[in-house]
Amino acid sequence: MSFAKYKDKIDDGDTVMLYLGFDNMHTIVVRKNDTFQTRYGALRHVDLIGVRYGSKVHCKKGYLYVLYPTAEFWTTSLPHRTQILYSTDISLITLQLDLKPGSVVVESGTGSGSLSHALIRTIAPTGHLHTFEFHDQRAKVAEEEFTRHGISDNVTVTHRDVCQDGFQLDHIADAVFLDLPKPWEVIKSAKQALKFEGGRLCSFSPCIEQVQKTCETLTQHGFVELKTLECLLRNYDVKTINLPRADLGP
Ligand SMILES: C[S@@+](CC[C@H](N)C(=O)[O-])C[C@H]1O[C@@H](n2cnc3c(N)ncnc32)[C@H](O)[C@@H]1O
Repeated sequence: MSFAKYKDKIDDGDTVMLYLGFDNMHTIVVRKNDTFQTRYGALRHVDLIGVRYGSKVHCKKGYLYVLYPTAEFWTTSLPHRTQILYSTDISLITLQLDLKPGSVVVESGTGSGSLSHALIRTIAPTGHLHTFEFHDQRAKVAEEEFTRHGISDNVTVTHRDVCQDGFQLDHIADAVFLDLPKPWEVIKSAKQALKFEGGRLCSFSPCIEQVQKTCETLTQHGFVELKTLECLLRNYDVKTINLPRADLGP
């Protein structure tokens, strides 16, 4: 199975999303001898093999849906090894980086791979993600997950401190994404990674001081059309209010 394309039926070894409710989703890797306990009773993995994705599956005390994994589901259910990016920000990042199938993207740090899955899904089948992480274990686990999720052909994971040693990529990238505490330290190397004809760079920072420092460095290195954006989800509240009758005069 692959997060980057769809298939019809569940096989042994597939990563499957179990949907018990909008606030109760789980990810399992189907192994024919395993059992998963849900609040509706035990689910034997062997009973899922050959079942069509999207089906309703009954347990002793209720039912759930077996869904094909998507980057968005993965973001809601992945094992957190770091803070992660969520779909609201990811949607803005993907749009602003102008990503499409075939794009080449450089990312650091990989973290828990939440953004990486969305990037790979967007640039597949012909694009490539070069993702850099200086924490040995995080880089290793991310690489294992990409392989298990059938997207390893579209990603290269490098274990490296990019602030110290840079990306060491020459003019191959359409876009660079930074989720680092000191993004200004890699701007020079990011510029070197971007294609000669130009590209887009996005840096994600929680503090305005980091944003200011990054913008200053970007300007020093000749980047133009800088924009600072914040993406907020807001409920659409509808309420009834009484307005006084307008006094339109005599
Ligand atoms: C907030 S996490 C990234 C989360 C990721 N965007 C996601 O959605 O899962 C930041 C990551 O950057 C890594 N990192 C920090 N400084 C780094 C550096 N100089 N070189 C490479 N990775 C670095 C950290 O180890 C951490 O895993």
